[in-house]
Amino acid sequence: MAVETQYKSQARSEFRERYAVYFSQFRELCMNIVLNDVNADDKVLIFDTTLRDGEQSPGASMTSVEKLEIARQLAVLGVDVIEAGFPAASPDDLEAVRRIAIEVGNPAPGEQITLHTPVIAGLARATKGDIDKCWQAVRHAAKPRIHTFLATSDIHLQYKLMMTREQVLAKVSEMVSYAVQHFTNAGIKPDVEFSPEDAGRSDKEFLVHVLKAAIEAGATTLNIPDTVGYCTPEEYGFLIAYLREETPGAKNVIFSTHCHNDLGLATANTLAGVRNGARQVEVTINGIGERAGNTSLEEVVMAIQTRSPQYGVFTGVNTQHIARTSQMVSHYTGLNIQFNKAIVGANAFAHEAGIHQDGMLKNWQTYEIMKPETVGWTASRLVLGKHSGRHAFKMRLKEMGYPLHDEELDKAFARFKQLADKKKTITDADLEAIVSDELYQPREFFTLEDMQVICGKTGMPTATVCLRDMAGRKTTVAALGSGPIDAAFKAIDDIIKTPCNLLEFAVHAITEGMDALGEVTVRLETLEENPRTFGGHGADLDIIVASAKAYLSAINRMLAAHGTNKQDVTSALELKAA
Ligand code: KIV
Ligand code: ZN
Repeated sequence: MAVETQYKSQARSEFRERYAVYFSQFRELCMNIVLNDVNADDKVLIFDTTLRDGEQSPGASMTSVEKLEIARQLAVLGVDVIEAGFPAASPDDLEAVRRIAIEVGNPAPGEQITLHTPVIAGLARATKGDIDKCWQAVRHAAKPRIHTFLATSDIHLQYKLMMTREQVLAKVSEMVSYAVQHFTNAGIKPDVEFSPEDAGRSDKEFLVHVLKAAIEAGATTLNIPDTVGYCTPEEYGFLIAYLREETPGAKNVIFSTHCHNDLGLATANTLAGVRNGARQVEVTINGIGERAGNTSLEEVVMAIQTRSPQYGVFTGVNTQHIARTSQMVSHYTGLNIQFNKAIVGANAFAHEAGIHQDGMLKNWQTYEIMKPETVGWTASRLVLGKHSGRHAFKMRLKEMGYPLHDEELDKAFARFKQLADKKKTITDADLEAIVSDELYQPREFFTLEDMQVICGKTGMPTATVCLRDMAGRKTTVAALGSGPIDAAFKAIDDIIKTPCNLLEFAVHAITEGMDALGEVTVRLETLEENPRTFGGHGADLDIIVASAKAYLSAINRMLAAHGTNKQDVTSALELKAA
């Protein structure tokens, strides 16, 4: 039976692979028919800012490889615009946006630019330097966008910018024109977005003047940020309607929402904006972002889809990819998803009460308004086991959306075999954990070579940890602790000597049963005056090993952010040895 299932799945993927081009052309054709049939004005563009505003969540910093992977997944999800980062923030950020522009912002070789080729945007303050850097990064995309912003609320003008309203108006005209010039010089149709930061608390009449200036200078999208999540849905909806009505030239541009969740109203405000004519929404996966976060993509998309007569609009999101994207973002950022989070929380489709379970058995609509499969929640399938070969493994990963190249496949397959020796059946969730744990870890300054732990009811818990550095050298240290995990972390600290505080530590079982793979996430904080936080994750059948891996992954991230290189690591160890 298992062999038959495996064979069918392999045949299915070969069929899909062979006819992929035709499928994609057919989908394109259908989309065009849809867009011609229904009013194109009814499409709400999804502008995903997980990699920019989302990355501003404390502790959510991602490596450039992780950002690239997420950008790829966002393209599969079908978002229209990917805000890939803030190129002026650092050379690394610029490089990450540039790579995304090249690799995700262009059709595959031999294919044409289509509706599914996402626009790649970068954020820039309203300065020539920022705009130049942004252009340097996004210009490699088939559809580049510069997103520039300047605050407009009196509180920002007075205390942050120290500018008058007249100066702000002049700066908006000058900088939007400057951004537009980059496109005209390159012979490309301009795609410039302007955001009046803190619009939610700005004077409405002044906003009209600012937006008029931006339109006259060539802005094509006007984004209205409720930067501090202050507005109520009525106010925000009214603000969008008012600005669309009062701003000269508003009919020729797209109005966009950008809401923060400080009062828990981000989704409600965004939907109020859509009802009042906004046709782009700025959102993040799992709602991650500064403070209480941004509007979450999955909530807005599913509200628009589930209550479609209510809103009369549609999005291009392929909702079946929502769950995977959500898990990927959670893994890479180290930010766990709250259990009761709408759409993507572990309990979003769980039914505990007997009455509910009974109702569900009779008709799912008694207690559900959408099917879990619609957002990509599939019952964990038993797919592979000890005897599965490399080909079946490769095919299953490919079906799951991980087309690994040979070197990656070798690493992941070796890990799969180790796991299959200890665990009877390997589910999709296990495979996801293997891929993210094995392949998408931060640059590894140190890796866990081995560890042994002694613990029990009597005696001091002891951990002996052996780490390998980038030069391949191994260092072994033993440490005591209040528990086995504490002892393991102390041994790691003793080798690496990175001053940091452990802020958060969480363990959860990825799959069910006694042989479940345990996943640990940790968050660390540096001891600097302005502390930075870093997340890490690790998965293993042994949760103490998973904990050590997670701790190391956060430390590797910290070292990468501090510009550590191989030489630093080697000299630190030499010093220790001396
Ligand atoms: O919240 C905000 O105001 C922003 C802008 C930079 C668009 O993120
Ligand atoms: Zn924001």
